[in-house]
Amino acid sequence: MSKKRSGVAFFDSGIGGLTVLCECIRRGISQPIYYYGDNEYAPYGNKSREEILSRVCSAFETFDKLNVQAAVVACNTATAVCVDALRERYDFPIVGAEPAVFSAARRGGEVLVLTTRATYESGRFRALCERVEESYQNAYVRLCPCDGLAGEIEAHLFDKDYDFSAFFPVGQPASVVLGCTHYIYLKEYVERFYSCKAYDGNEGMARRLENLLGVQTRKGRDRQPLVTPTQKLPQITFLGTCGGYNKHVFEQMFVK
Ligand code: DGL
Repeated sequence: MSKKRSGVAFFDSGIGGLTVLCECIRRGISQPIYYYGDNEYAPYGNKSREEILSRVCSAFETFDKLNVQAAVVACNTATAVCVDALRERYDFPIVGAEPAVFSAARRGGEVLVLTTRATYESGRFRALCERVEESYQNAYVRLCPCDGLAGEIEAHLFDKDYDFSAFFPVGQPASVVLGCTHYIYLKEYVERFYSCKAYDGNEGMARRLENLLGVQTRKGRDRQPLVTPTQKLPQITFLGTCGGYNKHVFEQMFVK
């Protein structure tokens, strides 16, 4: 008889996926968690498809051996490049990350979508943007690859005076989509910079995971994905090339 699957694995090139994990925990997910960050090889955004696929598969080999119940690719870049290959290769369910372009387009006007270069160039992402423009004819999608931004966030997260403004194109969009989970750390900054709402896909990912696991968690969403002391944290194991750093970021940024 095969061993019962348990635990949920989260994958990102580094710290970005912690924002997804925290949204899932804030909503009440209680399964044991594995968080795999490949920080030593981050950022992924300017790497080739082959390199990204090979790094992500080595993490997924670990998840397969751990016999996880489900995995979350908490990385838009890895999803854009290889989620289809992962779904073919592994027999546990996999949730992918998709830039929240549909949600932002409901407002109409210019939707500025910030992504990594690899996401920007992927057919999967281009097809999503085409579907959005077909569905919302009063919306115009403007795509912007932010080369190097994820790496700067990875390196300067705790540097309060660090100036990220050079990465953002000028303009007056009606809404901005943060199409990389690293960028979510700058959500408030981006909203101030453009004076409009910024969207991310974390709530949608959390909902898809809950549907897969057949669990019901809290509805609604706070402004910040905070985990408060009143809430019991699930057991979390940090894996990957810099597990200690991801644990540190998790504790500093999300456990209040
Ligand atoms: N957090 C990632 C994403 O959502 C990866 C960024 C990178 O490594 O370049 O795309």
